[in-house]
Amino acid sequence: MASYPLVASFAALVAVLLLAAPATAKLTTLYYQKTCPNVEKIVSDVVTTKQISTPTTAAGALRLFFHDCFVGGCDASVLVSSNAFNRAERDADDNVSLPGDGFDAIVRAKTALELQCPGVVSCADVLALATRELVLMLGGPFYRVRLGRKDALTSTAASITGNLPGPNMTVDQLISLFARRHFTVQELVVLSGAHTVGFSHCSQFASRIFGYNGGARDAHDPAMSPQFAQALQKACANYVNNPTIAAFNDVMTPGKFDNMYYQNLLRGLGLLASDQALALDPRTRPFVQLYAANQTAFFNDFSRAMEKVSVLGVKAGRKGEVRRRCDVFNNLTT
Ligand code: HEM
Ligand SMILES: *[C@@H]1O[C@H](CO)[C@@H](O)[C@H](O)[C@H]1NC(C)=O
Ligand SMILES: *[C@@H]1O[C@H](CO)[C@@H](O)[C@H](O)[C@H]1NC(C)=O
Ligand SMILES: *[C@@H]1O[C@H](CO)[C@@H](O)[C@H](O)[C@H]1NC(C)=O
Repeated sequence: MASYPLVASFAALVAVLLLAAPATAKLTTLYYQKTCPNVEKIVSDVVTTKQISTPTTAAGALRLFFHDCFVGGCDASVLVSSNAFNRAERDADDNVSLPGDGFDAIVRAKTALELQCPGVVSCADVLALATRELVLMLGGPFYRVRLGRKDALTSTAASITGNLPGPNMTVDQLISLFARRHFTVQELVVLSGAHTVGFSHCSQFASRIFGYNGGARDAHDPAMSPQFAQALQKACANYVNNPTIAAFNDVMTPGKFDNMYYQNLLRGLGLLASDQALALDPRTRPFVQLYAANQTAFFNDFSRAMEKVSVLGVKAGRKGEVRRRCDVFNNLTT
């Protein structure tokens, strides 16, 4: 009889401990060692095949990963589809066409995993592993990806408001947005190096090349190389009627993960205003110069910053689930 309250208080203590446990403490590279030992190979095989057939996949996945982690944590909330009752993160007004090939690579890897180890590997872990693998395929650095993320139980378009950087943001705004996630100025610069691959739609930089600052139709941002501006004006001439027109983020080596992005910035070949601004501001310029001169330094620092991104707001225990399908919450599937 005397033991009853003791048991109850022990249970309460355990509950308190569970709540207090830091969410990231459980991530480990060995998380699936017993439950899905081939997880890395399975993800790698699937996304490699996809990247070979569709070379836009890698940059797409990299951008998805960044958006997922910066909005409410690395929890695959960005992969959820909207339904009649909920407008999901990926359908927010400023989703500026999140890349479909990235989604598809994750869905395929998840499908392969469900055959080998059903219900075990979270979509958030698949996205983190796939991104690492694809960066490597493009020639970028290898970095460690610890595992054990749970998938989000919610995804709302509203959640992205104020959490993602925009191409028109000033360096002040970029610095404070990254600082809110505890990233330094140097980490802002090194992560922006992801724009060494992929592309941007003309709408994202049109104000730099057409009627800049209220000028004539062909007035361009003076920070941009004139030849580059002319080439972009030509490429984007019809972008209002055809909003799918896009330009490579790194005009020199568009498909290669290297430090060319920084070299471009020093020559006025940055595509987005937010890219070029990093080479102009005295707080960020020294890091642009460092990475332009030293690819090893870029790779080392990028790896470390990506590991840091990859553990943002990770959900553990009952704060999340392992989704069966990456685009639907489990309670909506049968
Ligand atoms: C620093 C502030 C950043 C801004 C303002 C920014 C903005 C943008 C914009 C506007 C696009 C073009 C979207 C489109 O037109 O479809 C883009 C593309 C991209 N961004 Fe960023 N981004 C930033 C940081 C990052 C970071 C930190 C990463 C990853 C670590 C990243 C990865 C990418 C990739 C890979 C693409 C190309 C996507 C593709 O080709 O499908 N960006 N970004
Ligand atoms: C972005 O949002 C629009 C509007 O809701 C939607 O049509 C589009 O499919 C979304 N993009 C992705 C990749 O989900
Ligand atoms: C950037 O700013 C310009 C000028 O204020 C505006 O016309 C343009 O729509 C903005 N572009 C984006 C992508 O927000
Ligand atoms: C480049 O950076 C790496 C890593 O920080 C450093 O070890 C190396 O000495 C640097 N190389 C040069 C030429 O400065």
